[in-house]
Amino acid sequence: MMQANKNAFPKNFLWGSASAAYQVEGAWDADGKGPSIWDEFVKVPGTTYKNTNGDVAVDHYHRVEEDVRLMAEMGLKTYRFSIAWARIFPTSMDEVNQKGLDFYHKLIDLCLENNIEPMVTIYHWDLPLFLQQKYRGWESRESIADFKKYAVTLFEAYGNKVKYWITINEQNIFTRMGWLTAQHPPKMTGEEKLYYQVNHNVFLAHAEAVLAFQDLVPGGMIGASFALHPSYAIDCKPENVIAKMDYDDLKNYWWMDVYAYGRYPKAAMKYLQTTGVAPEMKEGDAELLAEAAKHVDFMGVNYYRSETVEYNPLDGVDSSGVFNTTGEKGSMTVPGVPGLFKNPLNPNLPTTDWDWTIDPIGIRAGCRDITSRYDLPIIISENGLGAFDTLEEDGSIHDPYRIAYLAEHLKEIKLAIEEGSEVLAYCTWSFTDLLSWLNGYQKRYGFVYVDQYEEAVEPSLNRYKKDSYYWYKDVIASNGEAL
Ligand code: BG6
Repeated sequence: MMQANKNAFPKNFLWGSASAAYQVEGAWDADGKGPSIWDEFVKVPGTTYKNTNGDVAVDHYHRVEEDVRLMAEMGLKTYRFSIAWARIFPTSMDEVNQKGLDFYHKLIDLCLENNIEPMVTIYHWDLPLFLQQKYRGWESRESIADFKKYAVTLFEAYGNKVKYWITINEQNIFTRMGWLTAQHPPKMTGEEKLYYQVNHNVFLAHAEAVLAFQDLVPGGMIGASFALHPSYAIDCKPENVIAKMDYDDLKNYWWMDVYAYGRYPKAAMKYLQTTGVAPEMKEGDAELLAEAAKHVDFMGVNYYRSETVEYNPLDGVDSSGVFNTTGEKGSMTVPGVPGLFKNPLNPNLPTTDWDWTIDPIGIRAGCRDITSRYDLPIIISENGLGAFDTLEEDGSIHDPYRIAYLAEHLKEIKLAIEEGSEVLAYCTWSFTDLLSWLNGYQKRYGFVYVDQYEEAVEPSLNRYKKDSYYWYKDVIASNGEAL
């Protein structure tokens, strides 16, 4: 609608970068940490690319000073990281591990000393293993009270230092991969009913945390981070337009409506009731969700790609196809839900080596949609390009493809702001290279290259600044003018 020419980024815009505990920390059993479901899952041969795991990751746990120093030197305004639940409650919900709490105090204090606003994700997929063993984790409603207890422990410990809080990272992804496609723990396939029940339980856990937050962290801001896939109908055939609406209801609004309104989208709920997979709701659930939604301060958006939608007949494709974890371009197959929709590649857009569509305008479309539908501020909590990088002999890494990806997305965010979206923060994924859950270490996202790869027996874990590091430094220093 508008073409911006003035600098739209507000003065206090939070230029950031993000990570998650399991993907960077390593030190998987240090200082009393208990095992998480991921510590167990990755040890099953064949579950991850080349059987990579996060035992050492990029050793952020032991190199936290160096990493924050690199952030400070870059001028980063916010650092989003997650807390490993199993560091805080290693083996039972009755005993807090002080050393676990201390590590995050150290990280938070380092950030604050360097004028970096800490942004905490409470849950980024690494559930303590004992909760999975005790009652099958999120499948049980017992998880709701335990998550609340964990969240309250964090609010009490860090609430006077941390303003920005994200309850749950990408609920739509870890539940799909855990209960529908068996790519994440607990490795189940096609468990549709359970999948919706698990989601319902996680929504309630999120809601309890949001409500507890109100008294414990006055002046703080809280929301969930959602993996948004804005969608396009493949053409104007009416059945494809309805397929797009089905896609949005079942793949986007199913989560965002609950966070923002505390209720499920109607057509999607009708569909689940008809097919017998709707979640069981107990008395008081609807009220809890609705009450919490009133206190959600922003929509957290993780954006990597858009989706294209086409009608998928009843005997059409399902989601059991190939997911590209190797970086061999073109190896991904088209996923879909029979009778509703499928997601072919968009013929108008390029893709990454992992077959992810590159669509900067999609992030603007997403911001527009969120602004119109929910009128909530937005935190872009992840956006980035997974790519192969080459460390040159002189220690440089030339990654113009990453700079182009980030710059084009930022230009669209700038337009979204001009169009009325209130974007508070932008976090790239990621600051250092890290473990990509299923894709190993070769799918790199960072501004800082880490010498850590599948083939090396003893990688040095040394840090090297990529060209994109210097580029982002300039973007931050100019508050976006240098884009
Ligand atoms: C998001 C997650 O799904 O995307 C991150 O929150 C993840 O944890 C990122 O690493 C990129 O995905 P992938 O599969 O390329 O690592």
